[in-house]
Amino acid sequence: MLKVLVLVSGGGTNLQAIIDRVNDGTIQDTEIVGVLSNNYGVYALERAKNAGIKAEVIAPKDFPDRSAFNKAFLEKLDEYNPDLIVLAGFLVVIPEIVIRKYEGKMINIHPSLIPAFCGKGYYGLRVHEAALERGVKVTGATVHFVDAGTDTGPIILQKAVYIQDGDTAETLQKRVMEEAEWKILPEAISLIASGKVKYSS
Ligand code: GRF
Repeated sequence: MLKVLVLVSGGGTNLQAIIDRVNDGTIQDTEIVGVLSNNYGVYALERAKNAGIKAEVIAPKDFPDRSAFNKAFLEKLDEYNPDLIVLAGFLVVIPEIVIRKYEGKMINIHPSLIPAFCGKGYYGLRVHEAALERGVKVTGATVHFVDAGTDTGPIILQKAVYIQDGDTAETLQKRVMEEAEWKILPEAISLIASGKVKYSS
């Protein structure tokens, strides 16, 4: 049984996609052991509760400085003893100590076809604005293992999404989520749970 801990910051639609695929048996041999959010009051926490999954907040603002948060963050992750940590729209920079400890056991979803529109500063709507500004005709999403860089780890899955006439960053964000993110994130977890994908640095 793969023990999965999901980290969120917001609405939690990617979390919901994972919950749904575990519940309908598409993802096998997997248990979501917890959900951690860095923000209070976000809907992702409700989604976890509705699914009977333990959900907690660990917020940098509750600690005197970043190094105190980083230490508490690592301790909190360790409490769940996860086999896999899934960053599902998690907007906190993952500290080095966590990356080192969970190398090969942490994946992230990014809303573009890496290496386009990724790295420092590319998160949320900004990614889609940049794609539209550049005038690309195809964008998409990428699931990758997390390493010490920003969006630089080994790629597990990608899915393309076509830009449509009249797209705004908002419409594009929505379509990338529906057509790509909600599909490839559960699929990547399934591949890891079944041993079909293994990390090699
Ligand atoms: C997604 O677009 C994800 O790619 C990005 O943050 C968003 C999270 O949305 N990193 P949600 O909380 O899963 O609805």
